[in-house]
Amino acid sequence: MNKELYQFAYEVYNSVEDLNEQDAWLVNEAREVTANAYAPYSNFNVGAVAKLANGEIVAGTNQENASYPVGICAERVLLASAASLYPNIAIDTIAISYHNINGVSSHPISPCGMCRQSLVEYEERVKQPIRLILSGMDGKVIVVEKANLLLPLSFGSIDLK
Ligand code: THU
Repeated sequence: MNKELYQFAYEVYNSVEDLNEQDAWLVNEAREVTANAYAPYSNFNVGAVAKLANGEIVAGTNQENASYPVGICAERVLLASAASLYPNIAIDTIAISYHNINGVSSHPISPCGMCRQSLVEYEERVKQPIRLILSGMDGKVIVVEKANLLLPLSFGSIDLK
């Protein structure tokens, strides 16, 4: 029997002001776009904004439904838009933020398990890692260099062969 260890490094910044100009801009866009979420059931508005390898900017917000499981997270709305508008173009960076009208939103959120699965497949599809910038409306910001770091031992297309 072998025991394997999985660990990864990520960056933590005290605030958006500590990021470079481009990253700070993307975080502020993600914060702003939370206003476009449709989240009357959770009151938890999530915004995701991507910078693509061709320079285009694509946004996504969570879109809920009275039939709860029908709702879609901001990250998967963004990936579906990016793939539809700019097929086969890599995504360099996605900034994710949220506005919690029930309370404070000063700690970063990280994509849910289903979104991690989608992000990893997108990385494989276009053969480039996606950098993630995670934040709330204020407070600390986390930068993860590759989305697949968040999903070790993942299931993927190769397993279906
Ligand atoms: N949500 C996202 O859009 N992205 C995440 O990473 C976590 C959760 C949404 C789903 C649901 O509409 C609301 O936030 C509360 O879970």
